[in-house]
Amino acid sequence: MAQQRIFSGVKPTGHLTLGNYLGAMRQWAQEDQYRADALFCVVDLHALTVDHDPARVRRLTRQAATLLMATGLDPETCTLFVQSHVDEHTRLAYLMECTATDGEMRRMIQYKEKAARERERGGSVRLSLLTYPALMAADILAYGTDEVPVGEDQTQHVELTRDLAVRFNQRYGHTFVVPRATNPKVAARVMDLQDPMSKMGKSHARTAGIVYLLDEPEVVRKKVMRAVTDAASDVVYDRAERPGVANLLDVLAACTGRDPRGLAEEYDSYGALKKDTAEAVVEMLRPVQERHGELAADPSYVDGVLRAGAERARTMARPRVDAAYRAVGLLG
Ligand code: TRP
Repeated sequence: MAQQRIFSGVKPTGHLTLGNYLGAMRQWAQEDQYRADALFCVVDLHALTVDHDPARVRRLTRQAATLLMATGLDPETCTLFVQSHVDEHTRLAYLMECTATDGEMRRMIQYKEKAARERERGGSVRLSLLTYPALMAADILAYGTDEVPVGEDQTQHVELTRDLAVRFNQRYGHTFVVPRATNPKVAARVMDLQDPMSKMGKSHARTAGIVYLLDEPEVVRKKVMRAVTDAASDVVYDRAERPGVANLLDVLAACTGRDPRGLAEEYDSYGALKKDTAEAVVEMLRPVQERHGELAADPSYVDGVLRAGAERARTMARPRVDAAYRAVGLLG
């Protein structure tokens, strides 16, 4: 069987977090790039679907690419690039908008939540927030992707991508591979340390419960030591009833490769659990931060990697997107 193709992306809407790392990025670097023909993309166009500061998007895009390399993505092994450098994404997104229905788009949980939040604040919702999944489908389908390793919250978007691929193929002839979403094996859905019922997200305004990959060790320690726990004081693993402690156990388990239930038995106080969790996170991030420092000191090297990555990605996407244009009846 031919080698599988993997595609995944990260949005430059905030500083990358421990949640991004344990939820997806770590597996990209440690496993996915070696077992398949893998593309990883900083999806900058997706950052424009909400209010944004141009200078910040530019900075975060370069930082995300640098951090992806710092986690171990090797430009000799995988293709690392920036979405807006490859026109095929937006070319194909239009055909996806012509394949999807507006009802499908409006049913997306991420759209409903973000649009509701925006309206509550009295703001307006950009049309691109609604059509976002069409662009995401294009990201994936342009490359003949078999597998999309993502955090759980993206599963619905990948399901929609599958539906669009099947529909397009039925209407216009076989053009796209129908991809599937996969979640990381060591599933770490890291929650906000101050609000363990909600995900540790990079776009959140309140940052006390969010560990960023570039946080200094002292900052990491402080955030973990101040994590919200529960009124009880014994250490048990119970996601529903004791979400704060469960989250710490999950993080410690993900850092050490152990099982959270087994770990729970070894602790009889929150203080000791927090201390060990903080140290485990600091040690895990140390090499990533060191490598990030080296790469950030050499931006022209990073830019070169991104240029070469975009070149390669374009070559891969072009024939399939051209074929899709012809298939729908556009003069090729
Ligand atoms: N929607 C994803 C997120 O919010 C980012 C993304 C865009 C993506 N295009 C993609 C992920 C294609 C995987 C594949 O995290």
